Amino acid sequence: MPPEVCLREAVHPSDRDAVRRIVTDSGFFTAAEVDVAVELVDERLAKGEASGYEFLFADQDGAVAGYACYGEIACTVGSYDLYWVAVDPALQRQGLGRRLVDEVERRIAERQGRKAYIETSSRALYEPTRQFYLRCGYREVARFPDFYAPEDDKVVYEKSLSR
Ligand SMILES: CC(C)(COP(=O)(O)OP(=O)(O)OC[C@H]1O[C@@H](n2cnc3c(N)ncnc32)[C@H](O)[C@@H]1OP(=O)(O)O)[C@@H](O)C(=O)NCCC(=O)NCCS
Repeated sequence: MPPEVCLREAVHPSDRDAVRRIVTDSGFFTAAEVDVAVELVDERLAKGEASGYEFLFADQDGAVAGYACYGEIACTVGSYDLYWVAVDPALQRQGLGRRLVDEVERRIAERQGRKAYIETSSRALYEPTRQFYLRCGYREVARFPDFYAPEDDKVVYEKSLSR
């Protein structure tokens, strides 16, 4: 039987290291991006809900197997950003990423959220990530040419959430 996955919203100080490990091990992010991922955990630990960052952790066998970070976009009515979703590379392709996204969407809809947005890079490295978003029901709604760097567009995905 596969080990049970426990979802939790509470953020613990030990999650700093877990997030750093998972995001680093993914091989998808620069050192600066890894630092940003950890800073969001710090913000949440320091300010709680006022930080605007909500987390969902998936624990498996006593360790963090994956997590998502999201939050309502300031000055919108019910639009949310999904800032990060990452799964331990050893545990990918087993449905955990989808489960995290589904659960985040359910929580957003419960708060009367209408839309979830995700953005990523157009680089070939992120093709699996873009496939993942499409498989999760997101659609491309915008592209900002050369946004991150020359030949590196920002691609924005959106999903309307039913209540
Ligand atoms: C993207 C990521 C979160 C997906 O997590 P995962 O647990 O492997 O994904 P799942 O097993 O839940 O897959 C969900 C769907 O996406 C598809 N998918 C997942 N990884 C894929 C890949 N590498 N290539 C193509 N499709 C992929 C699966 O086939 C599945 O679709 P299906 O159920 O319709 O067959 C994970 O690969 C990851 O952490 N990547 C590195 C970090 C990253 O890019 N995060 C996003 C930017 S913040």
